[in-house]
Amino acid sequence: MSNLQDWPEPVVRVQSLSDSGLCNIPDRYVKPPTERPSLSNSHDNDDANIPIIDLSGLYGDDDNLRAKIRREISAACREWGFFQVINHGISPELMDQARENWRQFFHAPMEIKQSYANSPKTYEGYGSRLGVKKGAILDWSDYYFLHYRPSSLKDFNKWPAVPTSCREVIDEYCKELVELCGRLMKVLSINLGLEEDHLQNAFGGENIGACLRVNFYPKCPQPDLTLGLSSHSDPGGLTMLLPDDQVTGLQVRKDDRWITVKPARHAFIVNIGDQVQVLSNAKYKSVEHRVAVNSDKERVSLAFFYNPKSDIPIEPLKELVTEENPSLYPPMTFDEYRLFIRLRGPKGKSQVESMKSPR
Ligand code: OGA
Ligand code: NI
Repeated sequence: MSNLQDWPEPVVRVQSLSDSGLCNIPDRYVKPPTERPSLSNSHDNDDANIPIIDLSGLYGDDDNLRAKIRREISAACREWGFFQVINHGISPELMDQARENWRQFFHAPMEIKQSYANSPKTYEGYGSRLGVKKGAILDWSDYYFLHYRPSSLKDFNKWPAVPTSCREVIDEYCKELVELCGRLMKVLSINLGLEEDHLQNAFGGENIGACLRVNFYPKCPQPDLTLGLSSHSDPGGLTMLLPDDQVTGLQVRKDDRWITVKPARHAFIVNIGDQVQVLSNAKYKSVEHRVAVNSDKERVSLAFFYNPKSDIPIEPLKELVTEENPSLYPPMTFDEYRLFIRLRGPKGKSQVESMKSPR
């Protein structure tokens, strides 16, 4: 993979650009008119939101309540591919601590952040672009990417040591999220008409992958011309997003419109990734989303990705393939699959769509 050895151009930290107080953003961040947030953002939809699902009761002994929650999740997966969960069992204090630790990291001196600078080889560390295409139009954000699972890829030396509580808090936070994802995987599996462990087993059982991408969206003097993160679907299995508690920005595509997510307090935003679309033979679809920025407030978000074991073939589950619903996708490992976004950057749903088996 010689083309994933290094960035094609010198790295510019968006935070430094923002802090320099410029009035016009550099051309590299100006999106073509059709991709700009203002154009396609209709104001009729201001009340629209993704479903909010209360998970308390999912593990209690009230069977009717449990069935009701499963049905809500089922409808959200089919109709939106996106939902928020509240009363999910993860402590609000831990969520706030995790976000605040990362906020502090992004406000640490640039020399410290630079010591974690990433390369496109593994993407681990402090980064400012996704994709290695020379001359690409870039997004208005910096990020930090790290591995939590498999344990062989978890390396504390690649996690920030600043602030001092960061590693410990993130470790605990990721541990809790692996558990929550395991529970949601059972619900999805049952909702797909499968045994509760089936989907998890298709992910590689205990050997799943898990990583964290923390996004930092600095203030932007011309938010109408750019995006914090271009439209994409998440390449992995499930994503658990902890959004900023003060600033909105995430937009989800629904019937050719963009709906701005209004986060519920201490909710996680859950979305289906491409690997679940493939395994479910498109019964569940990953959904395009993007992030708009603004001129007066920075935004921090934590995206936790729960992924299949990276070297096993992922293809539609036999149980979901019938004569009327033939298999839509050929097998591919997640390692192979994610090379696409690592090379080309976020490109809507073009990858999972281009994979469809010819017939
Ligand atoms: C992502 C993502 C959304 C956000 O990191 O994949 O979609 O609100 N983030 O930052
Ligand atoms: Ni995403």
